[in-house]
Amino acid sequence: MRSIITGSGIGIPKNVVPNSALAKIMDTSDEWIRTRSGVEQRHYVDDGQGSSDLGIMAAEGALAAAGRTKDDIDAIIFATMTPDHFFPGNGPVVQAKMGFAESTPTFDIRQQCSGFLYGLDLADSLIRSGKYKRVLLIGADVHTPFMPWENGWATTIGQEDREVTAEEYAANTAIRDRTVLFGDGAGAVVIEASESGERGLLETRLFTNGSNIEALFVPGVGFRHRPFVSHAQLDATDHIPVMEGREVYKQAIVKMPEAVRQVCAAAGVEPADIDILIIHQANLRIVEAVAKQLGLPDEKVPHNIERYGNTTAGTLPILFHECLQDGRIQPGMLVCFTALGSGLHWGAALYRA
Ligand code: ACO
Repeated sequence: MRSIITGSGIGIPKNVVPNSALAKIMDTSDEWIRTRSGVEQRHYVDDGQGSSDLGIMAAEGALAAAGRTKDDIDAIIFATMTPDHFFPGNGPVVQAKMGFAESTPTFDIRQQCSGFLYGLDLADSLIRSGKYKRVLLIGADVHTPFMPWENGWATTIGQEDREVTAEEYAANTAIRDRTVLFGDGAGAVVIEASESGERGLLETRLFTNGSNIEALFVPGVGFRHRPFVSHAQLDATDHIPVMEGREVYKQAIVKMPEAVRQVCAAAGVEPADIDILIIHQANLRIVEAVAKQLGLPDEKVPHNIERYGNTTAGTLPILFHECLQDGRIQPGMLVCFTALGSGLHWGAALYRA
């Protein structure tokens, strides 16, 4: 028995934010952002729109594409590092808003940029154990709530029309190395048990190394602090992620190719046999470096970071969905998913379409 993806969908918020909009509120430029990261624009949610809402949009698309209704789904996995609430996670929110039966359990997982990849492995394990036949897997994140919205960020989505003050400009510039990279978005897939032989998830390899979580983490608003959130932490901007960009970059261009080679070896194929690499969209330079190390030509390594930025758990299912839609993924092709992100968590999965 294998797990096959029978439908996919995406949830993209309507507000398009080009690099030029960010250059008005901080010391950055379209040129810097494009050349360092490949990002040209990203989408931002409206105030009050959460990762659950984007996830639901994506889930509805995935169910329709699979020709399934909510009654056909045995379990839901929601991967996000930005849930609507500290607790509970987004699983019960989706269950209630979409009207799933109480007997449909929901699993909330995090794993940041590797959330969807970990979700694929979990879904496959649940299906191959025989316990569940059809799993809805959602990967969704909203980064806008991390932004210091009071510092003129509403101008980026046209909700405010003013010049930011010198103080606001300086505060936005202090976090420019991170904020310019991220966007909001979601993707979802329906995964089902299949006896159809060759198709389906072939192998996965997942890794975690928490020895340097400070390379990419949120220092404050956690339960090691008493109280877990305080004015002092907010004043110190400890609620905003910090990132050692170069360290994460170095890890990404080594660990992802290693994981891809290992998953290929486990499946008895070569990296050259991969027809399409669905790689986490953190930085176009990372995408290109990984492709080069694996000897994969451009046409096998699609990217959409230029349109969405890094949507964390959303990047893999969004890119997968777009490649299915425009025919870059055809039946029988060997698809490889790979990601690396905060944790660090990373890995790869091989899938026969
Ligand atoms: N605009 C203009 N200048 C900037 C910006 C900006 N937005 N951000 C930083 N700079 C400046 C820096 O201040 C620095 O200036 P200096 O030389 O005067 O000190 C200069 O640009 C170079 O900065 P670096 O940090 O050296 O730039 P680098 O080439 O390393 O690129 C980047 C930074 C894009 C963050 C890169 O390191 C990267 O992509 N890292 C990996 C990110 C990633 O993969 N994250 C993981 C996923 S996220 C998750 O898991 C949740």
